[in-house]
Amino acid sequence: MITKIIKVDPDNVIKSENDIKNAAEIIKNGGLVAFPTETVYGLGGDGTNPDAARRIYSAKGRPSDNPLIIHIASPADAERYTYTNETYYKLADRFMPGPLTVVLMARESVPIETRGGLSTVAVRCPSNPVAHRLIELTQRPIAAPSANLSGSPSPTDASHVIADMQGRIDMIIDGGMCDIGLESTIVKLEDDGSMMLLRPGKITVDELACIAPVGIADAVVDKLPEGQVALSPGMKYRHYAPKAPLVLLDGDIDEVIKHISEENNKKIAILCYSDHKEEVARRLPHADVYVLGARNNINEQAHHLFSILRDADKHSYSKIYAPLPSMEGVGLALYNRMIRAAAHTVINLRQGKNG
Ligand code: TXA
Ligand code: MG
Repeated sequence: MITKIIKVDPDNVIKSENDIKNAAEIIKNGGLVAFPTETVYGLGGDGTNPDAARRIYSAKGRPSDNPLIIHIASPADAERYTYTNETYYKLADRFMPGPLTVVLMARESVPIETRGGLSTVAVRCPSNPVAHRLIELTQRPIAAPSANLSGSPSPTDASHVIADMQGRIDMIIDGGMCDIGLESTIVKLEDDGSMMLLRPGKITVDELACIAPVGIADAVVDKLPEGQVALSPGMKYRHYAPKAPLVLLDGDIDEVIKHISEENNKKIAILCYSDHKEEVARRLPHADVYVLGARNNINEQAHHLFSILRDADKHSYSKIYAPLPSMEGVGLALYNRMIRAAAHTVINLRQGKNG
């Protein structure tokens, strides 16, 4: 299959109206188009077409029981596909369009294939202007997982989508780098009006708690115990893990540098804060240094993480080290992604013992 690649300026979408119309036609006809959102790139197909869902699973190499998020142009469109409640509209007023996904009971209008066999469906109304216009012109919900091959980091730039999806889908819309760089916050709405956090993201627990009570699913920060059923099917699948083992270090920069210099690894990479870049480069001259962002700027770190992990994977490191993120605010999202990429390998240097 030949994949058409088109460039669209998210700040001037009207200039690309014809290209986006073509993309919408492809989706209406059952084809697949990767498109930018404010979180990560999505791999879009018609959310009402079971064949499109099958094609998405196959293009990603994803098990078909791992459900897809349907993307809508306006929060009220959720009525057509789900049973909403008051909490949904409170969340929508505050956070939509934006990086929030809400899991609700599904209506029959959403095929079982899109839902991965569940009775619920996840809805999201993205704020990226390209995504928004594409959904509007398609005139139906767009089912879209992240546009990576299953097991790779989510794509935050069109080059990542091209690397994973060229030849597997009909079109890729290149809208530059995604603003946020981590996938949306996902909450499941409960019957009593409360919610359960299934995946942390840019919208934090504290922000959600201003709307209604929030529980946090165990799998957000912990390993899911053997045999426990995941609330979100995605949690049970192996997550992205770099080819080299990723080790998270919990300690100050001095303890981190000391620990790494005492380990006898051949070719190593270190992810660090820009504040420490020079010191790390000077004291560990044989390591490759990747800068996540300023230490006190978690949004900047989130924006760079997946792209750095993809870059690091191109080298054959024997180990990759990174600082253990804090679980405060957006830090929880970074923590959740990094702890999975590290298969929960954390070394606690503060107390000098493994955690
Ligand atoms: O930011 C995002 O959410 C991106 C962009 C493209 O919108 N999409 C995305 O989709 O990250 P995906 O499929 O890569 O991750 C969605 C996660 C999966 O782990 C899936 O299991 C879970 O959401 N999910 C989808 N529908 C669900 C449902 N009905 N109940 C529970 N979890 C669900
Ligand atoms: Mg994904």
